[in-house]
Amino acid sequence: MKTEIREMKMEDIPTIMIMEKELFSTAWEEEMFIEEIEKQYAFVMEIKDNIIGYICGWKLLDELNITNIAVATDFQRKGLGKELVQFLISKLMDEKCFKFFLELRESNLAAKLLYENIGFRMIGLRKNYYHSPQENALVMGVKIIDIFKKG
Ligand SMILES: CC(C)(COP(=O)(O)OP(=O)(O)OC[C@H]1O[C@@H](n2cnc3c(N)ncnc32)[C@H](O)[C@@H]1OP(=O)(O)O)[C@@H](O)C(=O)NCCC(=O)NCCS
Repeated sequence: MKTEIREMKMEDIPTIMIMEKELFSTAWEEEMFIEEIEKQYAFVMEIKDNIIGYICGWKLLDELNITNIAVATDFQRKGLGKELVQFLISKLMDEKCFKFFLELRESNLAAKLLYENIGFRMIGLRKNYYHSPQENALVMGVKIIDIFKKG
């Protein structure tokens, strides 16, 4: 499957909002994607010019917090979520950023297994961090050196 990953643009937001509402119980607002675009680490994945996934992150010094990732339902379990995370990690490594963090709902097994598959490990828990429904957040992280150790 031939995929392209490119920077997210303002005109992508309507399409992303449709996916966001389908894929998350608490969808982001449009303004949050605008902010992500302005912060520079927001990308979409396309197949034949159709957006089928996206990923966003906030960088602080040598750390990146992955703030959002999604793959359209019809395209899940084809390695595309992993491709998006690996794309962002290798892009940030070029900018000397080697530590990656994220939060996820405790019940989000697909996301947890995706991140574990890449090398992330659980480093904390935030009680009742999410609402609608209320739920704990798992905090996961990886240092690039750990990925190399994993082989
Ligand atoms: C989480 C999400 C991005 C994963 O994307 P994906 O493209 O389906 O994931 P991949 O195909 O790249 O999966 C890579 C690996 O992660 C694990 N994995 C991903 N989804 C899984 C699932 N539903 N069940 C079990 N393992 C899963 C597997 O180890 C998989 O490798 P394998 O297929 O060779 O077994 C996708 O399920 C999604 O968009 N969910 C809704 C939005 C969301 O929850 N985002 C995460 C917020 S923290």
